[in-house]
Amino acid sequence: MLEHFFNPSSVAVVGASQKPGKIGYDILNNIVRYGYTGAVYPINPKAQEILGRRAYPDLVSVPSDIDLAVVALPAAAVMGVVEQCGKKKVDSVVIITAGFKEIGPDGARLEKDLATRARELGIRVVGPNCLGIIDTICPLNASFASGMPLDGHIGFFSQSGAICVAILDWALGENVGFSRFVSLGNKMDISEAEMILSMGQDENTRVILGYLESVEDGPLFMKTARQVSKTKPIIVIKSGTTSAGAKAASSHTGALAGSENAYNAAFKQSGIIRAGSMQSLFGYAMAFASQPLPKGPRLAIITNSGGPGILAADASDRSSLHLSPIRKKTADRLREFLPPTASVYNPIDIIGDASHERYEKTLEVVLDDGSIHAVLILLTPTAAVDPAAVAQAIAKLAKDAEKPIVTSFMGEKKVRAARKILQDHSIPSYDYPEDAVAALDAMLSYRLWRERPERQYRNFEADSRRVREIFASVIDQHRHDLIENEAREILRAYGFRLPESRIAGTTREAVKAASEIGYPVVMKIASPDVLHKSDMGGVRVKLENDAAVEEAFFDITSNIQLRQPEARILGVMVQEMVTQGKEVILGITRDMQFGPMVMFGLGGIYVEVLKDVSFRIAPLSVESADAMIREIRSFPLLRGVRGEAPADIEGIRDALVRLSQMAMDFPEIVEADINPLLVCPEGQGVVAVDARITIQE
Ligand code: COA
Repeated sequence: MLEHFFNPSSVAVVGASQKPGKIGYDILNNIVRYGYTGAVYPINPKAQEILGRRAYPDLVSVPSDIDLAVVALPAAAVMGVVEQCGKKKVDSVVIITAGFKEIGPDGARLEKDLATRARELGIRVVGPNCLGIIDTICPLNASFASGMPLDGHIGFFSQSGAICVAILDWALGENVGFSRFVSLGNKMDISEAEMILSMGQDENTRVILGYLESVEDGPLFMKTARQVSKTKPIIVIKSGTTSAGAKAASSHTGALAGSENAYNAAFKQSGIIRAGSMQSLFGYAMAFASQPLPKGPRLAIITNSGGPGILAADASDRSSLHLSPIRKKTADRLREFLPPTASVYNPIDIIGDASHERYEKTLEVVLDDGSIHAVLILLTPTAAVDPAAVAQAIAKLAKDAEKPIVTSFMGEKKVRAARKILQDHSIPSYDYPEDAVAALDAMLSYRLWRERPERQYRNFEADSRRVREIFASVIDQHRHDLIENEAREILRAYGFRLPESRIAGTTREAVKAASEIGYPVVMKIASPDVLHKSDMGGVRVKLENDAAVEEAFFDITSNIQLRQPEARILGVMVQEMVTQGKEVILGITRDMQFGPMVMFGLGGIYVEVLKDVSFRIAPLSVESADAMIREIRSFPLLRGVRGEAPADIEGIRDALVRLSQMAMDFPEIVEADINPLLVCPEGQGVVAVDARITIQE
């Protein structure tokens, strides 16, 4: 896949220049200098020869086939090159040129025309506005980066050329190798999803690293990432997430959503490891590229000082790792050579006068203990220790270790040489213990993702014909917001349990309805014209007897007649008052990139203030629904506190999956809240008390 980009037999550089310092020179120079062994054709109408290679005035004059063309000509000339590629049957093109979509509408138009023409001619394009591509195995450096990465197993793609340059420099400094290095630029044709797929299929790439500002096609991105991440970790740093999506929301769900939540949900559901900063991206990359995944959560810390050990223990406490209790057998072995003041428990503190021999023996014993899944080695440069010798000892033992080993040698001057030794032996070395723990934590999460069983998707029977009828009638009336009765019917069609209710046209009917439903009841005006029922005096709650119902009927109808005389009154709704249960909120919103998104949180009026909510992109699996319930901070309240009965979690899960199905079935639903959904004690179900649905044609 994309073979001609990464392993071409011949490359042409259109706009190759004889003048050092020009981009067209740098690209040709990188191709030649970094060992490309295929045919190279500089294209320049004014030159006979560039860098010892015969030049041609244009692509069609080249006597042989061309697999890949790299274009470094001003924007206005690029269309002409694409036409030539069509004639010459060049199917893969990297467009370095800037001056397209990124400069505004004129550039965007030019880019669109270019994309259309390339598609017509069957030409695949990386760029425009990019730094180029590198494959270290081929080897091919078709970029104007200053330098060539070492070969290795990380495939990197980036939407920003500047980030490419920075990563390359970091990698050279840290001795980190790459298989591929791709600057995606404006992603006119080849997007991140296709690049992930291609790196997923590349046998030299073991870890995929990416810098993203946006995703082109959310569902395709998720599908691809989900597939590839089952075999290769994908670590992404995503910048530029804003809450712009929340601007015009009319529901709680819409107001709380925002693209940050959408990206987080999408990444989580596709197995993507999200790095929160460049530092984490580097940190994760080092660990994933060089260490085996931990087989479980148990971490052992070896340290020569207390403070850093505690920092690491705290960080591990906040992660999914556990500080492994040290087995008696291991502790006894450690005691044989450690001084009595050392701690053989976790963190294993081999104290300030530890030498490299003590580090080595300790690590040997720890590696031998099968109950420990990962090791973090901390060092502070005391007078007693030779950090470089410790690094050598670790390197020796790490060679055959089957568990991940990461290190943090704290300080700078005295540990510099030791860090270099660690890097040279592909042992991750972090400035601070927290970063080392975070990398191990990411590796453990990834392992769990890879091992988790296939998700279950359920499909409920729903009366979609009824839903369609209601939506059609709402649209006919030029409305977007459904009235309560309509929203209730939609939920009923999806199998939600609703409070029992009847419409009463007279006082007598109201009393009859109330006694059938059972006291206490709630009464609400039934009118398509009254949207804010409470504000208009159209709602009464906690009505305990016939007399109260009669009075409420009279009050409600007269309030509406007085305050909104033009409103059509269909009667008064008498409704079961659900008193038992905890209030939660469920919602649907639509994200521009990823489509329907489902929200869950603790309900009530404070939901937007507390923001204790979780999101997932629909369709929701049963397991995802369960995870989003457990993810909110107030989950313990649902489990029950101080002898309370636990709430019906299964009922919530069922409701979330039904809602997700509704969002998938009806793209016209732009926002919906079920607030509150009352959750009864375990086994007694959930009741959708109030709902709000907004649709668009
Ligand atoms: N075919 C082939 N070569 C041609 C040509 C054609 N049709 N027309 C002109 N050339 C030659 C030029 O004569 C020149 O060669 P010379 O140096 O020997 O004179 C060479 O191709 C380059 O053309 P030139 O007009 O000098 O372009 P440039 O080097 O000034 O700019 C880009 C070209 C692509 C570098 C520039 O337009 C650009 O986009 N720069 C920004 C790139 C960028 O930042 N990308 C994103 C990075 S993340």
